Amino acid sequence: MKVRVVNHPLVTHKLTVLRDKKTNSQVFRHLVEELVTLLAYEATREVKIEPVQIETPVASTKGAMLSTPRPVVVPILRAGLGMLEGMMRVLPSAEVGFLGMVRDEKTLQASTYANRLPEDLSGRQCYILDPMLATGGTLVAAMNYLIERGAKDITAICLLSAPEGAKTLERAFENSNFPITVVTGAMDERLNEHGYIVPGLGDAGDRLYGVV
Ligand code: URA
Repeated sequence: MKVRVVNHPLVTHKLTVLRDKKTNSQVFRHLVEELVTLLAYEATREVKIEPVQIETPVASTKGAMLSTPRPVVVPILRAGLGMLEGMMRVLPSAEVGFLGMVRDEKTLQASTYANRLPEDLSGRQCYILDPMLATGGTLVAAMNYLIERGAKDITAICLLSAPEGAKTLERAFENSNFPITVVTGAMDERLNEHGYIVPGLGDAGDRLYGVV
């Protein structure tokens, strides 16, 4: 498994505003979109392309375009939905599937409550959108779900990560050769006793959409 922390001053700047508890939902949502666009640039570094021949107004030339089958973007509901717009700006031709996952706040175990994904993901490059890699339980479950359906490779895009979550993922897939990449804006210090990332940004879903 590869973990890429995107060290870029614009990412750090936007993350800092995002972390600030004074930042309201409207600004938060806007910043999440912008951040995902920056992270997506790094995350799609290995997206498959194929050679094409085109005519410019001046000459015939070789180029390359995204190959088929199209990549699949999978936001994890609810908070991953806030990342979808920014991702689709970079990869507008991708197909979108949804996975609804919730974690039990006591056991911190993740379970699936909704899924809207192609049954067969054979040969598909998958991009999971989940803002917070905390315990790692949600991502392990989501990745297993996609691997069982035949995904070719998986890249998770997370705004923030905790070392504990990265370790959980590493352990879960250490005996598999399946290509997994995590692209994140920052690797924070740790998790607290409630499974929140420290310093983090609080509950991403609540900060995006308010408390329900
Ligand atoms: N989920 C969140 O929304 N925030 C955290 O800090 C951890 C998990």
